[in-house]
Amino acid sequence: MKALVLAGGTGSRLRPFTYSGAKQLLPIANKPVLFYALESLAAAGVRDVGIVVGTHGPAIRELTGDGGGFGLRITYLPQPRPLGLAHAVLIARDFLGDDDFLLYLGDNYVPGGVTELTRGASAPAAARLLVTRVPDPSAFGVAEVDAGGRVLALEEKPDTPRSDLALIGVYAFSPAVHEAVRAIGPSARGELEITHAIQWLIDQGHPVHATVTTRPWRDTGSVEDMLEVNREVLDVLEGGVEGKVDPGSTLVGRVRVAEGAVVRGSRVVGPVVIGAGAVVSNSSVGPYTSIGEDCRVADSAIEYSVLLRGARIEGAVRIEASLIGRGAVVGQAPHPPQAHRLVLGDHSKVHLTS
Ligand code: G1P
Repeated sequence: MKALVLAGGTGSRLRPFTYSGAKQLLPIANKPVLFYALESLAAAGVRDVGIVVGTHGPAIRELTGDGGGFGLRITYLPQPRPLGLAHAVLIARDFLGDDDFLLYLGDNYVPGGVTELTRGASAPAAARLLVTRVPDPSAFGVAEVDAGGRVLALEEKPDTPRSDLALIGVYAFSPAVHEAVRAIGPSARGELEITHAIQWLIDQGHPVHATVTTRPWRDTGSVEDMLEVNREVLDVLEGGVEGKVDPGSTLVGRVRVAEGAVVRGSRVVGPVVIGAGAVVSNSSVGPYTSIGEDCRVADSAIEYSVLLRGARIEGAVRIEASLIGRGAVVGQAPHPPQAHRLVLGDHSKVHLTS
């Protein structure tokens, strides 16, 4: 079984981060979201993986390489414009050949792996889906499923959902899907929807099955989702100090200090990860915080936040629920004026407390 991992898309809900990078490379506990998907695929026995990439393809390729580090063989498939999930399947036709394959949305975090989709089904199906109950089904593809697990109908982000079963972004397909992605037209949002391709299979009489799962799956499409997935992954993190922690510091609970990181005069309440080359001094960090590589946190307090590589936080009394970009600087004005001084990229968000 092959896999097709989607890492294109504009990631508009994650602007400004997605102006300069792929959303699939945003880190969860200091590891790109995409890497969790690739590790799951390798663990499920998949070897050949095609990654569909858009404008940030070069950065993904640089970090992920030929896949050897994951035990995978990766082929990169450029998608000139983000025209939908079914369009990605369309352009991957030659790579996929006539094999069964998994379609894996590279911004989905699926704890516990995907072996129930790779293990082979008890009955043949053109598509096998994972679905889960959500409070807000209108934000997802929604499935109507009978008691035997057969999918009766699907809708993409319906205003009035017919069930509360959302499609998780991992699907198993037989080669029958290739005819389906050729047959459908663009949706109201101008994309070729995979949901419509699966509906086409159902309409043509192909069996489509769904497994209801209760795993805490997440689409990491927004800042709130990123922070929540970060919290969930940190919750099962193993601590361990490989860097330097001075005697004036206190570590509480599970804290991972990577080799080359330094903690001085600080209190760190886990779960927390501190990446290589980061320096935390005279600060209070955690819980639920990931400090990326080469970050600086000085004279600050930060919790439930994610700092990307090289971010600097200096003299910030209290930061929480924040995602701070690569090389971003948060600091005190030298002579505090009666005004905030901001240098923000397009679509940045700042919540002022006074
Ligand atoms: C896509 C699919 C949707 C699915 C979701 C899972 O939505 O179209 O059916 O439920 O992924 O993450 P998108 O994130 O492209 O809006």
